[in-house]
Amino acid sequence: MKYKLIYTLFILIIVFLIGNSFIIENPYFKITSKDVKLKIPKGFPKPIYTFKKNKLKADIFILGRKLFYDNILSKDNTVSCGSCHQRIAAFAHIDHKLSHGIYAKIGTRNVPALQNLIWKDSYMWDGGVNNLEVQPIHPITNPIEMDETLENVILKLKRDSNYVKLFKKAYKDTLINSERVLKSLAQFTGLMITSNSRYDKYIRKQDTFSITEKNGLTLFRAKCETCHKEPLFTDNSYRNNGIKLDSSLNDFGRGRLTEIEKDYRTFKVPGLRNVERTYPYMHDGRFKNLKEVIDHYSNAASHDLNSDTILKKIGVLTAEEKKELHAFLLTLTDKEFLLDRRFADPNMVQY
Ligand code: HEC
Ligand code: HEC
Repeated sequence: MKYKLIYTLFILIIVFLIGNSFIIENPYFKITSKDVKLKIPKGFPKPIYTFKKNKLKADIFILGRKLFYDNILSKDNTVSCGSCHQRIAAFAHIDHKLSHGIYAKIGTRNVPALQNLIWKDSYMWDGGVNNLEVQPIHPITNPIEMDETLENVILKLKRDSNYVKLFKKAYKDTLINSERVLKSLAQFTGLMITSNSRYDKYIRKQDTFSITEKNGLTLFRAKCETCHKEPLFTDNSYRNNGIKLDSSLNDFGRGRLTEIEKDYRTFKVPGLRNVERTYPYMHDGRFKNLKEVIDHYSNAASHDLNSDTILKKIGVLTAEEKKELHAFLLTLTDKEFLLDRRFADPNMVQY
């Protein structure tokens, strides 16, 4: 009888230990120093955000990941960065035209993908933010996104013993302040680098293209490349790509910030990587699929009067050309990035 009790206790302790170590050491969510090494993909330019003043470290990245997926950043603890920026959509918001924020409020713009951010000289559709570290202040304090203050976020984090531990691990002391919150988020989002699509492998001669895809690339280079410049598929400029003003939104884009005539109704040229997943398209999500986007570019008669003159180069595309362009755009999908375990939500079951 006595032995039976000891035996049962022994088994229970073993089960507890195994269970615990599984939760802590689940390799899917484990981040090591190797995981946070910045590797500049071959053929990519020098990044603009270099991490020089925000040295990459596994425990800081882990803190950034936890914050990114935590509702604690919003006023009523219901919205996280990850609720609008979803991993399966290259961190855009799948199937939502305009962003959905706190208190079920609808925003005014389509959620952009988060990828290759360290090569950007400005953020948002109108370039309103010029520093990756400062960027999260906007959604956190925006009354229709997270409606919170940084001061209150810090208070909530200080009250959470789990965060106290995470900050200590990351920074060697328990100081919790906004600089650390913002820097850790920048480590997490800044490492979202996509460079392993079939297009990249084709360029590196590790994969082949079908004739249709090859023709699509040639067409793309002739008609789209000026603005969607390889390898990032953006020249980081602001342009009017022919879409007409939606009078229910009255979004004047870049012009609203600079108040310069030529900037009115221009928007940041989006990088097109993973475009298969980031639907719907444009700053207001007006096009639901790539077919509609390509039809738009081909139909000059429907273009806005203030369109960029470069659009004239596109002309009317034949059905075959449209198919080829479409096929090429699909080669920009990077499954390795979309399934990269480093960016998975650690609160979720592995998938
Ligand atoms: C309610 C939805 C929502 C939430 C929550 C949200 N975002 Fe966003 N995010 C957006 C929208 C919409 C934009 C584009 C805004 C614009 O252009 O005015 C954006 C833009 C961005 C950009 C700029 C991307 C680029 O290429 O220009 C980054 C980076 C970003 N968000 C990171 C975050 C982080 C980090 C958090 C959490 C602190 C967060 N977002 C929370 C909707 C959201
Ligand atoms: C004059 C510059 C310019 C040219 C040329 C151009 N684009 Fe664009 N493209 C833009 C801008 C600017 C946007 C964003 C506009 C907005 O949201 O208001 C955009 C958006 C897109 C989007 C939506 C991406 C997203 O994440 O929402 C796709 C897809 C796209 N372009 C494909 C193409 C293709 C294919 C071609 C060639 C047939 C092309 N573009 C030619 C400037 C250009």
